[in-house]
Amino acid sequence: MNIQLLLSEKVRQALIGAGAPVGCEAQVRQSTNPQFGNYQADGVMSAANKVGIPPRQLAKKVLQILDLGNIARKTEIGGPGFINIFLDSAWVARQIDWVAHAPKLGIAAVEPQTIVVDYSAPNLAKEMHVGHLRSTIIGDAAARTLEFLGHNVIRANHVGDWGTQFGMLIAYLEKIQNEHSSGMDLSDLEKFYRQAKKHYDEDNTFATSARAYVVKLQGGDPYCQKMWHRLVDITMSQNQLIYNRLNVTLRESDVMGESLYNAMLPEIVADLKLKGLAVESEGATVVFLDAYQNKDGGPMAVIIQKKDGGYLYSTTDLACAKYRYETLGAHRILYYTDSRQHQHLMQTWAIVRKAGYVPESVSLEHHFFGMILGKDGKPFKTRSGETVKLADLLDEAIARAAHLIARKNPRMPEAEITQLARVIGIGAVKYSDLSKSRTTDYIFDWDNMLELEGNTAPYIQYAYSRIMSVVKCAGIKESHLTLPLVMSEEHEITLAIHLLQFEEALTTVAREGKPHIMCGYLYKLAELFSSFYEHCKILNGNSEGVRQSRLKLALLTSRTLKTGLDTLGIETVEHM
Ligand code: ARG
Repeated sequence: MNIQLLLSEKVRQALIGAGAPVGCEAQVRQSTNPQFGNYQADGVMSAANKVGIPPRQLAKKVLQILDLGNIARKTEIGGPGFINIFLDSAWVARQIDWVAHAPKLGIAAVEPQTIVVDYSAPNLAKEMHVGHLRSTIIGDAAARTLEFLGHNVIRANHVGDWGTQFGMLIAYLEKIQNEHSSGMDLSDLEKFYRQAKKHYDEDNTFATSARAYVVKLQGGDPYCQKMWHRLVDITMSQNQLIYNRLNVTLRESDVMGESLYNAMLPEIVADLKLKGLAVESEGATVVFLDAYQNKDGGPMAVIIQKKDGGYLYSTTDLACAKYRYETLGAHRILYYTDSRQHQHLMQTWAIVRKAGYVPESVSLEHHFFGMILGKDGKPFKTRSGETVKLADLLDEAIARAAHLIARKNPRMPEAEITQLARVIGIGAVKYSDLSKSRTTDYIFDWDNMLELEGNTAPYIQYAYSRIMSVVKCAGIKESHLTLPLVMSEEHEITLAIHLLQFEEALTTVAREGKPHIMCGYLYKLAELFSSFYEHCKILNGNSEGVRQSRLKLALLTSRTLKTGLDTLGIETVEHM
């Protein structure tokens, strides 16, 4: 059910009927003030401009033609020529009755697209740290939302699994393997990486063998390949534990690391040279981009092959975009990396377009995000100033949640606290990230995110569990709610209209990759339910028709909350 789309089409027809050009847009959106109805159409002004008619005059004509049938109880002209639309509550009630029984909450089927979502992308032989949190959480919410709408989503975990440092890592892996025949403890990958680097810097023989391994690995040497695979396996199986704890849908089969594109790199460089896009410059191979300026005001050079023959992060991303279009058949490709990689991606894609690797009809979208800051406004670090490991962060979230739960429910059994603490602790961390507009930095604040009031996960999870207990109290199954919905109270109607706007929230998130829109939607839903519940008795002292109607609204609210939270990757519990 997408009211906005429905109204847009009708208003657009009326606009054309009133003399507006065929390409005009109705620009229908939800009104922010109930005074202006539930929806408003803003497209009259620009259409009037184009045809040279005063906007209010065009608006009047549009209203004469506009046939909204029984959808609206009132339409009026507002301000300079807006059209305000007030929905009819009987129509709203019928839509709720339909949505309540429709599969997938009445979400319309989309024309499925193949959409690649590039997210998480940690680096090998390093533990995941807080720097990968936003990409992992926001990217996963986008992937879930697109999938829920019916798209074919390909999750691409572009892990940093290639580069010169692998020689050093292989050499070190070999060394410790020989020293500890009983197997190695790689629980601390950070230490592993640091040790490898230390040996590399201090031990000449080690460094020489490390460099030899790079060459061998790139040449496809089976022994090196085997050792490298072990590194991939060790790292990714540890990362998988984090994904599972985070309730993130990435699997090991979603790993499409940098190494995947290795074989394509020589061809790419050769092809760009052939096309006259790449040239030799001071021994390296570069592409000059007119749209970007270097320090001296000349066109900026993007290096795609170094003097020593080595390839770069950019070269891999050229191949990667090509692969996603040609081999995976992507219609849309979304990248979730922080804003510092924006220029890198823009330049890479400029080359991709020039070379014709990905046609303009396929969108390449950088869904960038800001940084996570500490309360002091500086990048979020541990007290001793180190980067925060994700595993530690999640432990702390769960411990803090357990503490709060135990304090609120002194008699709750330990096992139940543990189970609840996981759902609430992890939910809080994810939601606090998802609920902020991703484009800006945000402050990581434990106290805020675990608050039971305000736009937080616990608030919404609690609202959900409260509705579930109301429904349970009623002892009634959804299939027993056979009477048509009746509404007389403003609180019921406002809640019902908001319920019907779920699809609008979903499609906006899908288009813009901004899950905070879903968070805002769910928060408002929980609030509207709460005032409905306060003002409208659900169970006692009502006629059967009213009782069933209110139960139906409650049930639909709970299902919408649960489904919405699920698109964000946040779990719910029946009581808390
Ligand atoms: N591994 C990179 C990092 O840690 C992110 C990769 C993003 N994806 C891409 N196709 N470049 O910053």
